[in-house]
Amino acid sequence: MVLGFIGTGHMGGALAKAASVNRNNTLLLANRHPEKAQKLAEMIGGSVCSNSQAVLEADLLFIGVKPQMLEEMLSDIREQLSLRKPPFTVVSMVAGRTIAQMQEKMGCSAPVIRIMPNTPVAVGEGIILYTCSSEVTEAMEQRFLEAMSNAGRFLKIEERLADVSSVVGGCGPAFAAMFLEALSDGGVACGMPRDQAMEVSAQMMLGTAKLMLESHAHPGAMKDAVCSPGGSTIQGVRTLEERAFRAAVTDAVIAAYERTLRF
Ligand SMILES: NC(=O)c1ccc[n+]([C@@H]2O[C@H](COP(=O)([O-])OP(=O)(O)OC[C@H]3O[C@@H](n4cnc5c(N)ncnc54)[C@H](OP(=O)(O)O)[C@@H]3O)[C@@H](O)[C@H]2O)c1
Repeated sequence: MVLGFIGTGHMGGALAKAASVNRNNTLLLANRHPEKAQKLAEMIGGSVCSNSQAVLEADLLFIGVKPQMLEEMLSDIREQLSLRKPPFTVVSMVAGRTIAQMQEKMGCSAPVIRIMPNTPVAVGEGIILYTCSSEVTEAMEQRFLEAMSNAGRFLKIEERLADVSSVVGGCGPAFAAMFLEALSDGGVACGMPRDQAMEVSAQMMLGTAKLMLESHAHPGAMKDAVCSPGGSTIQGVRTLEERAFRAAVTDAVIAAYERTLRF
């Protein structure tokens, strides 16, 4: 299958990297500054091309430009898009843009799969939430899932939940990275070497997330399981509560969601 990527930045590049693991995929990489696409091609394989070529030759066309760049980019490829017929499918990762808006801006009713991915797809541990336009058949959906099967976990959602899902899954790695940095700083403050503190923090988060996914435990119960009466952990929990840690994280999600709605 031929996968075209228009926009090989952080997210487009991470998805292309995940797709490159599947030997049945051929990658076409297009970017405003082609040297960025070239650098990616040298790392993961695939060939660099123009936006038009990606539209004309791809079976799945991934749109990976920023929302504010979308209109200008689409205006240059509208004619080529009108020439493509299903099962050609557009895969949009553009935050805050609905399927209907994408089809209107493309000037055609090409099948669209709207995805809300996150950067851990680059290491096969992403979460890709997705929703399909009515033109997407079951076969097209399966083709997309197979092509991207090395990206991580997939969850089909209703489009009305796309924006909030993109914040929890897509912005989440930034929030998680801040927690990892702070945890490591704490370790360093108490004498751990930086590299050890980061390794321990990262593996701890990986393991905790895996435990939650595999045991289906509530995070509150997982916290209780570590807090022994009169012990150390509960003192840390008390300190986080004093500094409104959970309220700050919840507010961060709401702030990012409100910003997404204004794109
Ligand atoms: N980053 C995330 O974690 C994340 C998560 C979920 C969804 N998304 C969505 O993914 C999209 C990309 O985000 P990003 O973080 O990857 O941004 P990014 O790193 O800035 O990547 C955007 C890329 O688009 C390229 N571009 C801009 N205009 C173009 C054009 N006309 N033709 C071809 N390429 C063009 C840019 O090229 P130049 O470098 O040459 O300017 C850049 O490489 C956004 O819509 C965002 O909402 C991102």
